[in-house]
Formats: sequence, C-alpha cells, structure tokens
Amino acid sequence: MATVQEYVLKTPPGGVKRYDHEALCDLLKVEDYSRVIFEQGVGREAIVRVYPENPLMGMREIRTDDLVMDARGRIAIGSYYDAAALRFRLFDPKTGNAQRGAIFGTTGAGKSRLVQAVLVACKRSGIVVHLADLKHGQSVPEAKGNVATRVTTQYETILMLRGLVAEAERRMVAYAELGRSGFVKDDPDPLTYGLVDEANRLLEKGAPFRDEGALLIKELGRTGRSVGVGIIIAAQAGHLDELGGSDTLRAMLKEGEVILLRWSSAMMQQLVGDGLIPRGEALQPIPKVVGQVRKIRRYNETATEDDDDVNSQGMLYHLTGVRPTSMARTYVIGSVAPCTGHDPVVLALYGDHAPPGEPIDLEAYMTAKERQAAGGGDGEDDDDTDESPSPEPEPDTASMSTAQRILAALPAGGLAEVDLLAALNADGGREVRRGSLRTTISGLRGKGEIARPDSTGLIVPIPAD
Ligand SMILES: Nc1ncnc2c1ncn2[C@@H]1O[C@H](COP(=O)(O)OP(=O)(O)O)[C@@H](O)[C@H]1O
Ligand SMILES: [Mg+2]
Repeated sequence: MATVQEYVLKTPPGGVKRYDHEALCDLLKVEDYSRVIFEQGVGREAIVRVYPENPLMGMREIRTDDLVMDARGRIAIGSYYDAAALRFRLFDPKTGNAQRGAIFGTTGAGKSRLVQAVLVACKRSGIVVHLADLKHGQSVPEAKGNVATRVTTQYETILMLRGLVAEAERRMVAYAELGRSGFVKDDPDPLTYGLVDEANRLLEKGAPFRDEGALLIKELGRTGRSVGVGIIIAAQAGHLDELGGSDTLRAMLKEGEVILLRWSSAMMQQLVGDGLIPRGEALQPIPKVVGQVRKIRRYNETATEDDDDVNSQGMLYHLTGVRPTSMARTYVIGSVAPCTGHDPVVLALYGDHAPPGEPIDLEAYMTAKERQAAGGGDGEDDDDTDESPSPEPEPDTASMSTAQRILAALPAGGLAEVDLLAALNADGGREVRRGSLRTTISGLRGKGEIARPDSTGLIVPIPAD
C-alpha cells in the first residue's frame, strides 16, 4: 500500500486567510485534488497530507450503537479524514442544556440523510423529537411513525413551533416554582427537540410565515435551551441573509452545533459575509466528485463513464467542533441505491418500537382567527348560520385598538406572549411592540378580560358572558 506523505507548514500568524487548494495541489504535482488534505492548525501551523486516495471514500455504515447518546450527550455520526470519530452533541449533561443545531449544505450534499441519523438517535436515546419535513414529507419519509410529531406544511410547522415555545415557557415557570435553575433530563420532562428540514422554505423571503417562523425559532434558541427544548434546522443556504431576516441565526448558531456540508460559492459568500463562518474561505473545498483528475483531454481521449457522478455526499466540516477545519464525513446512512418505498436500512435503524413522547396537539395552537379561516365551528353549535353562510367579514385591524386586536387573536386556550406578538404583527394592523403589548395586557387583566398569569405562562382570555 502506498504511504501517506505529510508536510507541516508554517502559515502567517492567525492562519491562512484565503486557501487555494488547486495551487497547492499543482505545487505538489498531484492531479487528483481530493487526495490532498489541508488542515489549518491553531496558530501558525498547518498540515498537508497526500493520500493514495481520498481517505474519506470508504466510510462504513452507521450502526444503532453510534446513535445512542453517550454519557457526555453525544452521538457518533462519522469520522474525520484521519479516522478520529466525528461526534454531534445532543445534550450537555454538565449544564443540562439542550442544543441548537444547524446543518447547511447545497442540494444533494447530504443534509436529509444526516437529519435522518439525528432522528434515529433521538428515538434510540429517549429524546422526544417533533419533525417538520418541508419537502412535502419526501426528505425523510421513514420518519413517519418514528417521531412524536411529523408535519409537512409550513402552517403546521408554525403550529408545531408555537407548541414547542409554549412547552419551553411552561417548563420555565414550572422549574422556577420548583426552585430549580436548570433542566434535569427526564425529571420530570424529557429532552425534546424541534427539527425543521428545508427550513429555508419556511424562512425565505416571500414565504407566508417567514416572520413568525423566524421569531419562534429565535425564541426557542433563546429560551428552550436551558429547559431541555432544543431546535435543529437543516437548510440550503444561499438564503442565509434571509434565514430570519436578522441576526436570529447568528445568535442561535454561535453556541450551537453547526455542520457545513458541500456548499455553493454563493452560499459561502453569505456565510462569510454574515460572519457565521469567520474563516470560511480558508476551508479546503469539498469537491462534488472525488477522485477526478482534472486535465485537458487530448484529441481522441475520452472521459470515463462515471467521471462526473457525485460521490462526496456527507463530506462536511463540523464548524463548532474541536476541529472546525478538518474535513470529515458522515457514515453511510441508509441504502446507497435508491429505494422504491421506505428504505429498509433506515427502518431497521429506527427499530419497531414506538417513539418516545406525545404528538403536539397542533389545533390547540391555532388562533381564533385561524380556526375560523380553517372552516371554523370546531364542533360548536353553528345553528344560527343559514344554508349558505356569507363569509365573515375580515376584522378591520387597522381601525381596531390594540386591546381589541389582542382579544381577536387569542384562542380560547391562550397563547404564549411571543406567539401573541407574532399573531398581532401578522394581522394586518399596525406594528405592536412588546412593551405596549404588556401594558395593554395588564390593562385587560385589570378589566377581567384576560386571566391572571398561571403556571403555564400563557395569556388566556376570559370568555365574556
Ligand atoms: N450519509 C450518507 N450515506 C449514504 N448516502 C448519502 C449520505 N448522504 C447523502 N447520500 C446520498 O446523497 C443523496 C442526497 O442526500 P440528501 O441527504 O437527500 O441531500 P440534501 O438533503 O442535502 O439535498 C441521497 O439520496 C443519498 O443517495
Ligand atoms: Mg434534503
């Protein structure tokens, strides 16, 4: 077997700012660029290894024992180029914190397979997971029946996220009452995640629930972590400036688990421009095709058949891990050949038992207005409506007071403050700020139109009669 050549390089202080992989390979006279691995070390040292072939090509299949959370709250999802294990954190037993996670990559890079592994890990580790599969449920179809909640539309995703935020708020109040400063796993509440695949669809410009979606994800990132409610998103970036339209993600990702699969150049510009990957341009690019020799083809020479088949799926950088600039790869997750139905390999990873947790009752998080729009009634007696009811006129929110708008937006079961604020700012009326929301609510409490705060922390209307 051919040996590995290793070079230790001195780099400018602080490391390479802009890394030119092709130039390095040319210098080393290596035609297959994927055989050369560059890793910036700390400070001024970098390492270059030249392998007989790319060391990440023969990944083994993932096993269920990789996906059972270890004592330190991590699962094994793959390996680095030098065979060290690549771990992803789902829980921090030291602090009791759930994680915020983001998986970025261009189409086909391997986001959904990794999502599938995380879902299996949740099921195998007693973690309750609520999934939004925004590609109409196509991205991780095997998750059906293997997660506590599975939604496939943007609106249901909003309901699911409202439910998660409400759960986080419920826990905050309950733990405060217990005099607890943090989350203790399974005592009494399970570690819980919301996971949104193709989150870009929810958050991109023009998406119908963009503002509320961003707000809810941000809220979960902010308050959920310390009460055992985490959030993980997978997204095609390129929409990064739009994922929340603000610094939503930046705050969320700073301390999260961030994985970057194969990117497009536009994506990298966004990530670097947004300061999410300060040294992104120093990362060795992940090639679409590994093992390809890029050389000029002479007259009469033909390319081999599989010259441009993508074979680098799952290659990634774990940007928030201990080795952010080391190329790594996920294990093989599921069947390599396409399946006609559910992938039996993935189903076997999940196992036959029921997933932990209860589904989120989505309807409970619909506003009165949404309920009405959804065909309303909700089993209540509609006997005063005639045969062909004329559509309810939309309330003219522009001429309503904030108090009236609050009462119109509140469902009977109440809403968390964050959701109420989002609902108000989506009702077509003028913007309501948190401060004036709070003032108006305390006024309504004084008049007996809204209940006093209880342990759920929800803002609940008192029905007038
Ligand atoms: N870890 C993996 N193991 C096996 N095959 C993978 C893996 N990641 C990606 N693939 C292959 O690449 C294809 C695209 O991956 P997918 O996760 O659907 O990408 P994305 O969600 O980023 O668009 C999959 O259908 C599969 O054939
Ligand atoms: Mg996908």
